Amino acid sequence: MPSEGKGNRSLEVTDPGIVMSGFETAIYEKTEPGVAYVTLNRPQALNAFSVRMRDELFEILTAIKQDDEVRVAVFKGAGDKAFCAGADLKEFLTAPSAIKARKIRAVRDLWRLFLSIPQPLIAALHGYVLGSGIEIALFCDLRIASEDAIFGLPEVGLGILPGAGGTQTLPRILGMAGALDMLLTGRRLDGQEALQMGLVNRIVPRNDLLPTVDGIAQKIASFDPVVIRNAKQAVIKGMDMTLAQGLDLEWRLAEQTKPRKR
Ligand code: CAA
Repeated sequence: MPSEGKGNRSLEVTDPGIVMSGFETAIYEKTEPGVAYVTLNRPQALNAFSVRMRDELFEILTAIKQDDEVRVAVFKGAGDKAFCAGADLKEFLTAPSAIKARKIRAVRDLWRLFLSIPQPLIAALHGYVLGSGIEIALFCDLRIASEDAIFGLPEVGLGILPGAGGTQTLPRILGMAGALDMLLTGRRLDGQEALQMGLVNRIVPRNDLLPTVDGIAQKIASFDPVVIRNAKQAVIKGMDMTLAQGLDLEWRLAEQTKPRKR
């Protein structure tokens, strides 16, 4: 059974990419053509999202945001059973006070950081994708799932609200009806239902998941990175604007994005 590693941060050049090692709960790899891979790496706990994982993802996302060599990043889960089974329920009992939690959030808001990443993010989803697992996926721009993926927001059943943006990101993707259906009932979706509801962009057999996602990532990485970042920005920021404001934004971004001579 893979275990959570320990050690100091270091950059190791490996074949074929660069691995930023020393994290306990995640693996960060950067490959030559500009694709970064982030693996949630607590397979023994179905990659449950812990405080440590939050802090390590914050470091990794900051590195991605500041690194122009990264043109696209892929999020995936280690092990056979899950992308991520949600917040670490074993930590719930030891949760800090609301005041402490608010202070931590003021300096280390992972969800706002997700929202500010200029490069496209792709989620490769297999097995259980629950709670904060689905919420991480919702901050990604493309969601590709294996047929056996299971999606759900069990929070209301646990007596809490989704705390990682789900009440806001889910309706932006599914629309209000689908979002309320999932949020209020805790209903679980299989891959086919997730595709029908628009929660994921594509479903593929499990063995095809990573090759499919790699192919999409490499395709995106082959395009002009400024065009790609501006296209993402136009859509993401435009969603929170009036149509007229969105058209202005598109115009400004298009002016910055000069076509290259062929
Ligand atoms: N936190 C901590 N550990 C978890 C976990 C979680 N969310 N989910 C699974 N694990 C651990 C189990 O405790 C178990 O560990 P041990 O072997 O040490 O006992 C191991 O992962 C394997 O899990 P199961 O034996 O339970 O596997 P299963 O196949 O029988 O069941 C499952 C899989 C249905 C996903 C079940 O594990 C489960 O229901 N997990 C909890 C899901 C959940 O409610 N997540 C929290 C969502 S709320 C949220 O995320 C909050 C938020 O947004 C703020």
